[in-house]
Amino acid sequence: MADGPVNDAPYRLIRDVTFGENVVVYSFTNLYGCRIGDDTRIGTFVEIQRGAVIGARCKVQSHTFVCDGIELEDEVFVGHGVMFVNDRRPRATSDGGGLQTEDDWQLERTLVKRGASLGSGAIVLGGVTIGEGALVGAGAVVTRDVAAGETVAGNPARALAGSAGGSAPPKG
Ligand SMILES: CC(C)(COP(=O)(O)OP(=O)(O)OC[C@H]1O[C@@H](n2cnc3c(N)ncnc32)[C@H](O)[C@@H]1OP(=O)(O)O)[C@@H](O)C(=O)NCCC(=O)NCCS
Repeated sequence: MADGPVNDAPYRLIRDVTFGENVVVYSFTNLYGCRIGDDTRIGTFVEIQRGAVIGARCKVQSHTFVCDGIELEDEVFVGHGVMFVNDRRPRATSDGGGLQTEDDWQLERTLVKRGASLGSGAIVLGGVTIGEGALVGAGAVVTRDVAAGETVAGNPARALAGSAGGSAPPKG
């Protein structure tokens, strides 16, 4: 456990974050109430919300949004501008007409397993599991579970021909 990131950088908002050792966080980030494991790097303009868990030796590239209910295991790569979703049917207001609170919607959790990679601009809907070593193409919209070792792309994301599901190639 460390007190904070190992590097200095201007314009970071960091509140109630549990840091592992040797974490690097670049500028213009907003991190609160989350956990970040050893040696992980967080790029510029990233927001990670309360309740999110990021493993060790992950790379989270610039402009990505990680919300509550998301867990990235160790050695996960998240490309630029990846968006996670945790509310399938969002509404601004509740039946009474007032703004929704946390009691008015159902959090959907997502797990990205060890060594998986998400391409830039991917959108990951809530409630899915992305298997170990899987690869999600740039711009994909992931609506269902992705098998270990599988490569998926497109909207909705589907396995690319020749993609080997079921095994989990370790990433070097
Ligand atoms: C999905 C991906 C891994 C596939 O790479 P690949 O196995 O070399 O695949 P190919 O380039 O040979 O393309 C195979 C087919 O999939 C299509 N395809 C490739 N990537 C695609 C994508 N992201 N979305 C939709 N279709 C895609 C190609 O058009 C091609 O279709 P065709 O056979 O009809 O011509 C890769 O294209 C990708 O998106 N990687 C993510 C890169 C990234 O975002 N890096 C982030 C940091 S820079």
